[in-house]
Amino acid sequence: MKYNILIVEDNKKLASLFQEALGDEYDTHLAFNLKQAKACLDGIHGLLLDLQLPDGEGLSLIESARQINPSCVIIVVTAYGTIQKAVEALKLGATDFLEKPVDLEALVQRFQNLFPLQGIKDLVAESAKMVEILQMADRVASTPFPVLITGETGTGKDVLARYIHQHSGRKKFIGLNCASVPQELADSMLFGHLKGSFTGAIETRKGLLSAAKGGTLFLDEIGELPLSLQPKLLRFLDSGCYLPLGSSQESKSDARIIAATNKDLEKAIKEGSFRKDLHFRLAIFPIHIPSLSERKDDIIPLVNHHIERVEQLLGRRVCLSDSAKELLLEYHFPGNVRELFNLLDRTALLTGGNITDSSLRSFLSPPSEDEPVPGDFWSESRGHVLKREKELIDAALAATGGNKAAAARALKVSYKTLLNKMKKLGL
Ligand SMILES: Nc1ncnc2c1ncn2[C@@H]1O[C@H](COP(=O)(O)OP(=O)(O)O)[C@@H](O)[C@H]1O
Ligand SMILES: [Mg+2]
Repeated sequence: MKYNILIVEDNKKLASLFQEALGDEYDTHLAFNLKQAKACLDGIHGLLLDLQLPDGEGLSLIESARQINPSCVIIVVTAYGTIQKAVEALKLGATDFLEKPVDLEALVQRFQNLFPLQGIKDLVAESAKMVEILQMADRVASTPFPVLITGETGTGKDVLARYIHQHSGRKKFIGLNCASVPQELADSMLFGHLKGSFTGAIETRKGLLSAAKGGTLFLDEIGELPLSLQPKLLRFLDSGCYLPLGSSQESKSDARIIAATNKDLEKAIKEGSFRKDLHFRLAIFPIHIPSLSERKDDIIPLVNHHIERVEQLLGRRVCLSDSAKELLLEYHFPGNVRELFNLLDRTALLTGGNITDSSLRSFLSPPSEDEPVPGDFWSESRGHVLKREKELIDAALAATGGNKAAAARALKVSYKTLLNKMKKLGL
């Protein structure tokens, strides 16, 4: 069950670093220039794209990749200080961007978080709560009003934002993760700037609000929007107008804003990091997606839905025992739907398709040191955790005939992480 990622990077050393980082989990292909890249676009699920290539600008590849696979995950790599290129890339349909020097862990993380987009074609909603949410989404989709989607990580905020967009009759969908924008550049990215309005502003540029005219601008992690820009966004929401940096003339856009956050904005307001008036304005249509454990009726339908995809990718049947299903219904799922899907991927891979409760148990959120998993399911002592981690690694190694790279893949950790863990555990 591997996605294909095409890495387009002319610096061969960097390209192989990227390949090393991603190669554990994905099938990676390399292209060193545009011409090679164009020939490799067929069948890719992800694209890691350097923008400066010897035979032209990487930007030109984005549209072609989108045409071939509309849900392709496209991450562009921009040189420091060329954030405007990132804006262009997002306008053309890139999913996200990373600045050089690229943090490899962050790169892997970004793909992991974004690949779910591959599966957004259908949204599962069986529980009464989700049915109600979809009804609400259907009602608000075609209006110009902003929507604020809240919910824990992995509950499906991205999926819902895209669902609303798809039912809005609007053209473009442009997404911006507010957490990944350097503060000092956020203004120009969103609202654009005039030539000479700050050092480095060599040309006048339009921002994402302008690019999203006639479409949707999805502001993910809105809680991270710099406080200084919040009044500007508020003004846009109120009037459809905004002032690009350095301009004395207002611009207009009819872009529809969908915002999402897993933060408690009420708390952020109390702490002074989020403006009350902006919250009020965004939350005309608040949609809260409850955690998965609060809507257990969705669990089995989600399982069935995902298993179908796993079967396609693995090319063989996958089935769950009744006790495995019971266990899933009991489990707390701190990582919500994302965790459920990851869990199914791992166990399907390791068991060859016969998922039992004991195979699931060995995978249920083994807490890592840096990120303890909340909930009572794993409230055992640290010693127990280490033991469980050891069992997990042993199981993965046994299942892969001792092949560490394959075991790391099955465990969905990087090769390096596995080696570190093994060293720590004395394996
Ligand atoms: N209702 C749903 N139906 C189908 N898949 C879902 C649903 N909710 C979440 N998912 C899947 O769960 C994963 C996480 O969803 P995502 O929208 O990225 O969550 P969030 O943005 O809230 O962190 C993705 O794989 C997504 O496709
Ligand atoms: Mg998200």
